[in-house]
Amino acid sequence: MDGDAMPHLIVVPGGRGSSWREAVVAGSPDGVLLVGRDGRIADANPAAERIFGTAPGGLAGRPVQEFVPARLRDRHAAEMAEFFTTAVSARGMAERGAVPAVRADGQEFMAEIALIPVTVEGAGAVACIVRDATERLEMEAALVRAEKLESLRVLSAGLAHDFNNILATVIGNAEFGLQVTDEGSPARLALHDIREAGRRAAEMVQQMLRFAGQGETAREPVELSLLAGETLQLLRSALGRGVRVQTHFSRVPVVVIGDVVGIRQVLMNLVINAGEAMRGNGVLTVRTGLQEVTERYLRSCRRVTCHGCGAAVPGPYGVIEVADTGVGMDAATRERIFDPYFSTKLAGRGLGLAAVAGVVGAHRGLIRVTSRPGRGTTFRVLLPAATDAR
Ligand SMILES: Nc1ncnc2c1ncn2[C@@H]1O[C@H](COP(=O)(O)OP(=O)(O)OP(=O)(O)O)[C@@H](O)[C@H]1O
Ligand SMILES: [Mg+2]
Repeated sequence: MDGDAMPHLIVVPGGRGSSWREAVVAGSPDGVLLVGRDGRIADANPAAERIFGTAPGGLAGRPVQEFVPARLRDRHAAEMAEFFTTAVSARGMAERGAVPAVRADGQEFMAEIALIPVTVEGAGAVACIVRDATERLEMEAALVRAEKLESLRVLSAGLAHDFNNILATVIGNAEFGLQVTDEGSPARLALHDIREAGRRAAEMVQQMLRFAGQGETAREPVELSLLAGETLQLLRSALGRGVRVQTHFSRVPVVVIGDVVGIRQVLMNLVINAGEAMRGNGVLTVRTGLQEVTERYLRSCRRVTCHGCGAAVPGPYGVIEVADTGVGMDAATRERIFDPYFSTKLAGRGLGLAAVAGVVGAHRGLIRVTSRPGRGTTFRVLLPAATDAR
């Protein structure tokens, strides 16, 4: 049978001996509820019990309002009454879009619902077809986000390239001016300022290019512990004296193949953010290590703030973790941190993490973020480890 199996046929346990209609209702992947005029659920199929999270037989007899959010119950009751007095035709799933519903454990979710007026033993009732829309809505939101980011990437790349050329002229001419003016000339201060402003702008352009995945593309072995040690030394004084720095570096070398300038930038951006989140006081912990990333780990990414997990493949990864004891983030902030130009800081440009995401993405790596307001933040960056096959 194996060889002839039809892959598109999903076999579900239908009631043997029942009519095909009954078998379809019993085996339907959509939930089916039969609700009487009294607003109680008269019958439900296994999919409905699964969607609402009850035991088998756990829906029958319960008021359907238990599965409607409290704030919408009055409206729902009015609509039910209207349905029973006026409904003559079925209402489709797409007609109203998804509506909020509640599972047995109180968790709210979005459901698509179709209503079909039926007559059972001479009395009017309504059959509700219920579909859990959570996954579809998540996928749609992810798609919209991906499209928005793609447009921003194209825009940033174009702008950054043009600015790069302009800035080369600005900085070059300022340099030249500095060389040909006398020490005492009043123009020197102005030329110096022009050169420094030009350099700062050029740094921003580099971050934009990195976000766009168009920074340097060197590929060489990079040992993460060594790089982390060097970077911390560079940034030590910027963190402030109230910040204690702890390092837990792997005893074995953690080698990835990639662009050392880009990975250093990743570390710098994460450490600078951590420092800003601690406002001069706290503990910064930097770890390195190796990790075997499994399918399961990649799937569990859906439950945390994560970037790049969709494209990553299982295998050995080099890890750098930057943890701080700073202000932390709420869920709404975590959602947007990798968006370019998103910043909660007065003077923030919102390019640091966008650049981090660009570099990590270009290395086919992933980033996981755990954070709670007031409890600090941990960024875990995983980059494919150098192996013979890579
Ligand atoms: N370690 C952290 N702790 C708390 N919040 C953080 C941390 N790292 C990032 N954030 C949040 O993410 C936002 C975006 O960070 P990102 O580095 O991209 O931009 P920025 O730091 O605001 O500006 P810049 O372009 O100068 O880096 C921050 O404004 C902040 O709200
Ligand atoms: Mg930053």
